[in-house]
Amino acid sequence: MNQRPASPPAPAIFVLFGATGDLAKRMVLPAFYTLAKEGLLPADWRLIGSGRGDVGHEDFVAHVRQSLDEFGPAPDDATTWREFSARLRFAGGDFTSGGHGALVAAVDQARADLGTDAQLIHYLAIPPQAFGPLTTSLGQHHLAAGARAVYEKPFGTSPDAFRKLDKLVHGVFDESQVYRIDHFLGKEATQDLHVLRFANALFAGMWDRRSVRAVQIDCPETLGIADRADFYDHTGAVLDMMVTHLFQVAAEVAMEPPASLEPAHLQAARETIMRKFRPIDPADVVLGQYDGYRDVKGVAPRSRTETYVAAKLWVDSPRWRGVPFLLRTGKRMHQTHQSVSLLLTPPKGPFGGLPPDGNIIRFTLDGTGAIDLRMLAKVPGVGLQLGPANATVPLASIAGAEPLPPYARLLHDVLSGDRSLVTRPDGLAHVWKVAQPVLDLDRRPLRYAPGSWGPVAARRLAAPDGWLVGQ
Ligand code: BG6
Repeated sequence: MNQRPASPPAPAIFVLFGATGDLAKRMVLPAFYTLAKEGLLPADWRLIGSGRGDVGHEDFVAHVRQSLDEFGPAPDDATTWREFSARLRFAGGDFTSGGHGALVAAVDQARADLGTDAQLIHYLAIPPQAFGPLTTSLGQHHLAAGARAVYEKPFGTSPDAFRKLDKLVHGVFDESQVYRIDHFLGKEATQDLHVLRFANALFAGMWDRRSVRAVQIDCPETLGIADRADFYDHTGAVLDMMVTHLFQVAAEVAMEPPASLEPAHLQAARETIMRKFRPIDPADVVLGQYDGYRDVKGVAPRSRTETYVAAKLWVDSPRWRGVPFLLRTGKRMHQTHQSVSLLLTPPKGPFGGLPPDGNIIRFTLDGTGAIDLRMLAKVPGVGLQLGPANATVPLASIAGAEPLPPYARLLHDVLSGDRSLVTRPDGLAHVWKVAQPVLDLDRRPLRYAPGSWGPVAARRLAAPDGWLVGQ
């Protein structure tokens, strides 16, 4: 039943730009160490941190250790940590403005240690505005040939910035070298959106407008933006979550069956359906900003950045025409959860007046993921009374499960050259068009109280069902 076994990665030189920054600390370094613990790294490798600060080698090792102690997995096994830390290097200097010598020398040294055929990987854990200059520098300093380059979302901060960046990146790298990642695609339950459907007769036949009457992709968060105010105030919920994570997940739900599960086919299926996303009608969007956001250090005092977005997306394909895809996310909301729900149309037949929310398939994306089925069943006993029956499958309970956090999964894909979860520029170009009407709005987000479910106006969008969780 193993359709596409993971191949062991070749020796790799992993250059981490922004190595002492927030993303590296919270996500990339923990993901790298997770792979080390699980025995999923190449037999030999080097991780070269690059950053502007004046950081000595020992300081960098201490920084990595501190990141792991804080964000996990804490190195509790001395041997694993010793072998891991012995492969860390730091190359200081401002790579994009003349200070490239240390990094070039570190890569040369790593090649001398590992062999010239070691796979060079550049991971850009830096703000999106810096992607362009850094990519140009990689080309100028002869670090692009044969390398892979990993770009975080958002790839471009506006339609125009996207086009320019795409052109610039393709002037330095061939598309096959470019890994644009979106960690929501690396979540186990997100992948089950297509796996469950294509592997089970139970779901294969009902995945369309005849059986599904609405889809909800809901990602409220209790967290604020305290330690990333500068990034967030220039980004907002539409760019940070909607045109990126939520659109990718919507594509996972809506895709047509790929020709096979080969990476290129899976990628194509996801990207092709994005072209059927209809540009969002501004009347179908609610933007919000939580009270107190403007008081956060680093946020402009009169900021109009939205910390909340709810929107209705239509997918103009024969399979989905007329089915609303409701998307919602926001900061400082009442609850954190990440879910995709398919609300099914009650069957016609002998039961009159079935409740509209009697039958729901729900994917929980956070944590190690779960699938929930809500059904109606006969309440055991005399008479004929229907009652809700729920079945939950925690994905970690599946025999043989070895769940990986999404960043670790995507990093492993990059190391082994698996592009199935990599986003493509044609799909991204289209999502900008879909979002354009929202980006063009004279944005005046509605205020909402921290700890609430966001602006009340969003209830109207989700009518007649309402949001399945909260209001
Ligand atoms: C990130 C966003 O990409 O995803 C954050 O920048 C958001 O604003 C986060 O909180 C949610 O991801 P996770 O790790 O909770 O799945």
